[in-house]
Amino acid sequence: EDRYEEVDENEKVPHYEQKKWEQDQMSSAVFRFGAKNREDEQKAYDLILENQIEFVNPINISGTPGIEDEDKKPQLTEKQKRKMNIEETKKSLPIYKYRDELLRAIEDHQVLIIEGETGSGKTTQIPQYLHEAGYTKDKKKIGCTQPRRVAAMSVAARVAEEMSIKLGNEVGYSIRFEDCTSERTIIKYMTDGTLHREFLSEPDLESYSVMIIDEAHERTLHTDILFGLVKDIARFRKDLKLLISSATLDAAKFSEFFDDAPIFRIPGRRFPVNIYYSQAPEADYVSACVQTILQIHVTQPLGDCLVFLTGQEEIETCHELLQERTKKLGSLVKELIVLPVYANLPTDMQAKIFERTPPNARKVVLATNIAETSLTIDNIIYVIDPGFCKQNSYNPRTSMETLTIVPISKASANQRAGRAGRVAAGKCFRLYTAWVYKNELEDNPVPEIQRVNLGNVVLILKALGINNIINFDFLDPPPHESLVIALEQLYALGALNHHGDLTKLGRRMAELPVDPMMSKMLLASEKYKCSEEIVSISAMLNVNSSIFYRPKDKQIHADTARKNFHVPGGDHLMLLNVYNQWAETDFSIQWCYENFIQYRSMKRARDVRDQLVNLLGRVEVDLVSNISDNVNIRKAITAGFFYHVAKLSKGGSYKTVKHNQTVEIHPSSSLREALPRWVIYHELVFTTKEYMRQTTEIESKWLLEVAPHYYKSKELEDSTNTKMPKTVGKANSELG
Ligand code: CDP
Ligand code: MG
Repeated sequence: EDRYEEVDENEKVPHYEQKKWEQDQMSSAVFRFGAKNREDEQKAYDLILENQIEFVNPINISGTPGIEDEDKKPQLTEKQKRKMNIEETKKSLPIYKYRDELLRAIEDHQVLIIEGETGSGKTTQIPQYLHEAGYTKDKKKIGCTQPRRVAAMSVAARVAEEMSIKLGNEVGYSIRFEDCTSERTIIKYMTDGTLHREFLSEPDLESYSVMIIDEAHERTLHTDILFGLVKDIARFRKDLKLLISSATLDAAKFSEFFDDAPIFRIPGRRFPVNIYYSQAPEADYVSACVQTILQIHVTQPLGDCLVFLTGQEEIETCHELLQERTKKLGSLVKELIVLPVYANLPTDMQAKIFERTPPNARKVVLATNIAETSLTIDNIIYVIDPGFCKQNSYNPRTSMETLTIVPISKASANQRAGRAGRVAAGKCFRLYTAWVYKNELEDNPVPEIQRVNLGNVVLILKALGINNIINFDFLDPPPHESLVIALEQLYALGALNHHGDLTKLGRRMAELPVDPMMSKMLLASEKYKCSEEIVSISAMLNVNSSIFYRPKDKQIHADTARKNFHVPGGDHLMLLNVYNQWAETDFSIQWCYENFIQYRSMKRARDVRDQLVNLLGRVEVDLVSNISDNVNIRKAITAGFFYHVAKLSKGGSYKTVKHNQTVEIHPSSSLREALPRWVIYHELVFTTKEYMRQTTEIESKWLLEVAPHYYKSKELEDSTNTKMPKTVGKANSELG
């Protein structure tokens, strides 16, 4: 009777019934967390609850300490699950019951929308079902797109494990700068951006029998464009099956877009989740998280905890704070296993999040919103939701792209809460007030296509022969202005001619899986005979996480080490210097350690560099080195990034040439004191001010050399000139 799948859906795991569980904690005056005596326990409890956060609705968790009774905490499913082998686990997933029905629906319809609660088994199971049903005969592949790299990798690893094969053989993944597939691969997970690139080499997706556009509800830019592309393909490839899979309620919208394709709903299982709100707004949600985690740890029965933060930095801060505080508590509390999850997480760390929590310990997963729907971590009972996420947004008027922390939507908040109710009744602690939830959060997030720079996708669409972008079949069209700006930028970069058609340069640019400006820089390195250097710089710029390591207790040492890498010219050249010095040591770990450099970031830079070298080979750029002449290197950078030029203004601040916006050199820059007259920057980041990150000194006359159709000499003389260069009218003609 204790078999998971035999229990009635509605009565599943009655042991964890909400009411009883609450009662247990409320009625108990005893708490144990490994402390030797009652006094110690009280001490730990006081320590943690000193600055406690008050939650409301329906009960205040900080009221009475909870009981830790081995039999009563939600361990049963955990135990049950441990006993299960993979086969049984697969059978326990909600989708399993619908396997045959689903396969039949796929057989009957070319396009099918699949909707099912997160964790029901869509991503991991459907490709396997299709494989078993014969869709991989004749060497045809099943493709499945994911909006996030980590999800593609970890899901592929999981499926390979379920099928007992080595990852990269029959099951593989392909993400930007990393291809883990082989000739034998028949189930292929990839990012949505990767599929865009595949369209370039295989416009009809001939090698696929099924394409699954997964996590469709995330509405990433690439997924949104894919909708239009696959819809078009399905018209003339009647043998291609198309599955659009979504976790939430957008199914009807997808169905309508795909000519009223049928919707297959997988009924989910969800246990009740009690939601608690902060009584007052939190000033610092990272420390509020730490506090709440510890509060949960000492007052709530065992069960894992998932915390939503916005990015790697926040996750690391939270991790450090937690370590500090638990160290102080020592053996007074039970073991707390803290695991980070974010986009650039190294592979070996990724596997850890799925490992079972040892008995008598609690796992705390600190994740970005990747854990909202893309990744399902089993046995989460508690969710902490500060209510924010990082979002890309692009202001077409200032042509500035910024990554900002914004409040999530109600839909996201509910997805997050739902993560607590997969295996038992759970609790979600929202670090915002009920009023904020009701009155300030939007219902749904804005699709990415409506808020980002479209340069990249417009270039790909052009390369696919889609000339009239404005008439492209968008699920939700982007703002007209964004399209115009993207076309203008591509024209200025030389990727489009004045008819709006792709140039030879543009075709080569489209081959490189990087931003058009970087693409242009890479290709310009050919002319300036410094491709070896530019490819290293590009690789270093592509490593999102920090290269330099700055531990709190050794900041002075770290800063000195960093200064040792400074070279005349600026940050791009400094990055090159770091890479070259590291390469000279034969990529030594020890060297990184001694120089306060993050080995992991460097390793990634090296991988990215290898990939870029391959890709440059494909577009026939020879690798030549010109280290002695950094003018040429800087000219090549300028040839790509001439949009990002700023001129020194009063008081050490700068004005961007195009929009006359006040910006400053980032405090970490090697040019922070030099303050050259003209600089080029890689990106703008907004923290307390608008900062330019990765800045390099240039000469204004180079701009006339590298972008004569964009800069007029008059503009460069007059610093107050804010007029738009004369490209608008021409690029606009394509838009009619
Ligand atoms: O796609 P959907 O959200 O419907 O579910 P899924 O990702 O296929 O997850 C099904 C099950 O596989 C969950 O219980 C996950 O915890 C598990 N899984 C895993 O153990 N390891 C992974 N890397 C991915 C999923
Ligand atoms: Mg999924």
